Amino acid sequence: MKKILVLLGASLALVACKEQEETIRSAGPQLPSKLYSYVWNRSQPTFTGNSWLRNVRITDEKATLGRVLFYDKALSVNNVTSCGSCHMQSKGFGDGKALSEGFLFNETPRHSMHIVNTGANSRFFWDGRSVILKDQVLLPISNHIEMGLEDENLLIAKVDAIDYYDDLFEEAYGNGLVTKERIAEALASFVGSIVSYNTKFDQVERGVDRFTALEEKGKDLFNNKYNCASCHGGKNFNAEWGETAFSNIGLDAEDTDEGLNGRFKVPNLRNVMVSAPYMHDGRFSTIEEVLNHYSSGLKQNANLDWRLRQFDPTGMNISPDEKEALIAFLHTLTDYDLLSDPKYSDPF
Ligand code: HEC
Ligand code: HEC
Repeated sequence: MKKILVLLGASLALVACKEQEETIRSAGPQLPSKLYSYVWNRSQPTFTGNSWLRNVRITDEKATLGRVLFYDKALSVNNVTSCGSCHMQSKGFGDGKALSEGFLFNETPRHSMHIVNTGANSRFFWDGRSVILKDQVLLPISNHIEMGLEDENLLIAKVDAIDYYDDLFEEAYGNGLVTKERIAEALASFVGSIVSYNTKFDQVERGVDRFTALEEKGKDLFNNKYNCASCHGGKNFNAEWGETAFSNIGLDAEDTDEGLNGRFKVPNLRNVMVSAPYMHDGRFSTIEEVLNHYSSGLKQNANLDWRLRQFDPTGMNISPDEKEALIAFLHTLTDYDLLSDPKYSDPF
């Protein structure tokens, strides 16, 4: 009962505070009058050090501008898609589809990636073709399937013509001038601020929570017996550096998608339980299918990673109990704060 009262009190306070904070700007996005904080504080693990951060200093004003740009369909040529169409907060910034629909409802050739802790990325996209986040964020806008705004001058003119951007650029940059560089930096600031550090896994690391026996068993299988961590390593469960971040896991004997010389990016497994379907082509709709692949579905692809070649030719033979434990562990990587934090939500 006490717990319920506390919760009720807290949510009432939140509503009151929200009412006070939210002011509606003329027919545009709803933004809080006191900016949300996007700059990382020292108590958060930073997951950084990579090239893109040296080019972008996140400020709350730039990230706020970036949030509006991220969700603004005006950034597509026919006002149909925004970044948020294919990167939804509730799905860990993935979109829940095997392949995404672009501005003309054509399908993207690959599955949308769930965005998290991009500061820990050394390369972007399944094939790693982009190295710097500030460059990467402009590519979907001009992409002929995703948003279709191929002419940079048209992008600048469109944004420039929208009233609510006057103040947002002014606040972020000291004047209202709209440039491609500023759009890129603001988007990168918002995307770069999508930082996960408060999963159950993190809380256990910090000593404020404990794994159940099943989760603990899953962690042990993940790190030791099946050594998933040899690829999905560190606090981001990915491979952080350069081309070693890419592997072939034998999805097919012969690939139809070349990736990076027959290999694909090792995805960060934070929020993986809310970001199905899986793999670069979204072929698996459940986590069970993913584990069945590792267990008994490996194909002898010429590029198959050496870390997987050590197992039985078709896979790891993971028992049903072990699968259950691995799934319990993967659930501890969901960051509920990130999935519901209003600062990352759609302001329109
Ligand atoms: C129509 C769907 C769609 C739209 C719209 C879209 N994306 Fe994506 N996004 C994707 C797909 C698909 C991929 C993977 C593409 C690939 O690997 O070839 C991706 C990959 C990414 C990545 C790489 C993540 C990583 O870990 O490597 C980032 C960052 C990203 N998108 C940000 C954005 C931003 C910013 C926008 C808006 C300017 C945007 N996306 C618009 C579908 C979309
Ligand atoms: C040899 C490196 C390697 C090992 C070992 C490995 N993975 Fe992966 N994992 C990858 C790569 C690379 C992908 C993406 C493959 C693709 O899309 O072509 C991936 C994809 C995944 C995905 C899908 C994520 C998404 O967002 O689509 C999950 C879940 C996953 N792995 C879990 C595991 C588990 C659990 C283990 C251990 C049983 C494991 N992996 C072992 C490299 C590895």
